[in-house]
Amino acid sequence: MNTKLSKEKIECLSQIAKNRVLYFESLTSTFDKIREYELSHGLTVVCSAQTQGSGRLGRKWESAEGGVYFTYCIAPPFKVPITSITPVCASAVHKALSKYVDCSVKWPNDIVCGGKKICGILTRNIVSDGEIKAVLVGVGINVNNDSFPKELPHATALKKLLSKSLDENEVFEKVLTDIVCMYNDIPYPKTLQYYKDNCINLGKEVTIHFSDGKGDVLGVCTNILEDGSMDVQTSQGTINVHSGEVSVKGIYEEKE
Ligand code: BTN
Repeated sequence: MNTKLSKEKIECLSQIAKNRVLYFESLTSTFDKIREYELSHGLTVVCSAQTQGSGRLGRKWESAEGGVYFTYCIAPPFKVPITSITPVCASAVHKALSKYVDCSVKWPNDIVCGGKKICGILTRNIVSDGEIKAVLVGVGINVNNDSFPKELPHATALKKLLSKSLDENEVFEKVLTDIVCMYNDIPYPKTLQYYKDNCINLGKEVTIHFSDGKGDVLGVCTNILEDGSMDVQTSQGTINVHSGEVSVKGIYEEKE
């Protein structure tokens, strides 16, 4: 069976996205390619490999063949506050990948299974004249990737976890369907509850790695708020964390 992404199979998914779904074999980044088009709601750019895939916190995203890499455009009018788009998308991708493996969301938007990362999500706001014109949701899923560089010991792929290759077209269709459905149809309070139910940080010891030289702070994650931020109870009181590096005890604890 051919498990690779196919242009014909991908580009006929426009009914799900209610906009064009465009496939390319290799791109610098799906974020770069989508900017060549008018950023209308649902526009999706998918590819089989990226030469300059970007990850959170300025990192590179390993994007070899076997993975599914895409950017989905969310345009105004926004159905949820901008800050809630990340938890909505993380919940949707989690729901889709749960069809294949028993996984969790690691705050804010990693999908992890057995202590290893199978998917990363990065959202970028496109701002012009002081207004958010679109939110680009970039998703990288390790589906049939055969190996990862040794600098990424915490990365794994669905193929490795399941000991078999999956149809990349089917995985993409499932993820796209769940993103469209969770964003458009499911009320946010319900989605936030889904996020909390599947978030591996809640109730666990976490370490916040401050980048401004303040060092690390230990605490327990006590809540995920509506805006997607996380409350961490520390010996100094409760801190509300909006972004950055947080590691969870037992889940690839090195600074990611
Ligand atoms: C993370 O660091 O966890 C987020 C990774 C996001 C990777 C995806 S792959 C598709 C899209 N295009 C990119 O260049 N990055 C995102």
